[in-house]
Amino acid sequence: MRVLVVGGGGREHALAWKCAASPRVREVLVAPGNAGTATEPKVRNVAIAAEDTAALVQLARTERVDLTIVGPEGPLVAGIVDAFTAAGLACFGPNRAAARLEGSKAHMKDFLRRHGIPTARSATFTQATFDPDWVRAQRAPLVVKASGLAAGKGVIIAESTDEALASARAMFAGQFGQAGEEVVVEEFLPGEEASFIVIADGRHVLPLASSQDHKRRDDGDRGPNTGGMGAYSPAPVVTAAMHARIMREVIEPTVQGLAADGSPFTGFLYAGIMIAPDGTPNVLEFNCRLGDPETQPILTRLASDLTELCEAALAGRLDQVQASWDPRAALGVVIAAGGYPDGVRKGDVVEGLQAAAQLPGKIFHGGTRLEDGRVLTSGGRVLCAVGLGASVADAQRQAYRLAGAVHWPGMHYRRDIGYRAVARGA
Ligand code: AMP
Ligand code: GLY
Repeated sequence: MRVLVVGGGGREHALAWKCAASPRVREVLVAPGNAGTATEPKVRNVAIAAEDTAALVQLARTERVDLTIVGPEGPLVAGIVDAFTAAGLACFGPNRAAARLEGSKAHMKDFLRRHGIPTARSATFTQATFDPDWVRAQRAPLVVKASGLAAGKGVIIAESTDEALASARAMFAGQFGQAGEEVVVEEFLPGEEASFIVIADGRHVLPLASSQDHKRRDDGDRGPNTGGMGAYSPAPVVTAAMHARIMREVIEPTVQGLAADGSPFTGFLYAGIMIAPDGTPNVLEFNCRLGDPETQPILTRLASDLTELCEAALAGRLDQVQASWDPRAALGVVIAAGGYPDGVRKGDVVEGLQAAAQLPGKIFHGGTRLEDGRVLTSGGRVLCAVGLGASVADAQRQAYRLAGAVHWPGMHYRRDIGYRAVARGA
């Protein structure tokens, strides 16, 4: 079969690599891909942007693509699955109605409340309905969120109610464009975060291995929020009991609730969970896609054929398949470009990839492009070095050895990815 992966980041490199490993798959097309997918066996980049739905439908037709997997949220929220389905093409992901769960945090909070799913107390405002007195009456810290898609940047942790007011006003004034036309203000939840990602087929659910991401730029979880600076799987905080609780209190009611609301969810459903000190799994966010960088360690551990799981989900028979996992831990360290997450420096030559290829583990590319046989940086999160080991600590050692082999001016990465798991002895 022929597979098309839509997107060009680290998540999409991992998706393409995993699909290409399937004996069923003859070729994987990636639109637009990166330097990593350009050099992966059985994989071919196609210069079409992930947002160009019409051109992607055309490509899938002319190349006789059997299965399309969409990586990023943008095309999903814009309705790429609806367009493929209307053209009679198999496309794995939620349709536009289901993807709204990520596209609008205001909608998500309303959904969680209506279905009794645990989450932070919150209020939603537009500029016209904004109530500064409500904000002043809350206890700080508060979390202020632009409701729409803001590439992981539209969330401000405000240490005081004054800061929360200023953040909300900046969002109404256009700091995040249209994404900030509605603003959610919510209580700050203490606890430990986990990424809980499942495959859904509208009714049934197949959980993927648990993982944990590091959202802050700097060691010790300091500095600005980013798209994610590293991740590992499994996450020891998700014990067997916690896994059962998240399935029962979050995932099942979400999938059933979406179906009951008339927008059944097919695709990867990502719940960002804050596990409270008392064990309550509060939903921080839903994503309608796989996480980046969580995908890189998760797919490194997936022993099953991903294309079979996606096809089973598209056929509504996810209850008839299982996923098997490499029992080892995987850990990915994101190597970012100078300036990330703000003004990103681009166009530097990435050195050391050949030496790294001799080491155990795998480097997935994110923001890279190939030019005259050289790999150049072209985005914020440039590479993700993934190690595999009997423990998270072993995987961490392997990942950092890989990361140490590559160089370019201004590159930076965290030195403590996985520290919570390692402190637990995992
Ligand atoms: P979100 O995009 O909503 O997941 O927010 C991005 C990050 O901000 C999360 O991964 C958390 O680290 C943090 N965050 C969001 N909401 C809260 C909250 N209510 N309490 C504490 N931290 C939060
Ligand atoms: N790593 C967080 C995300 O993909 O949203």
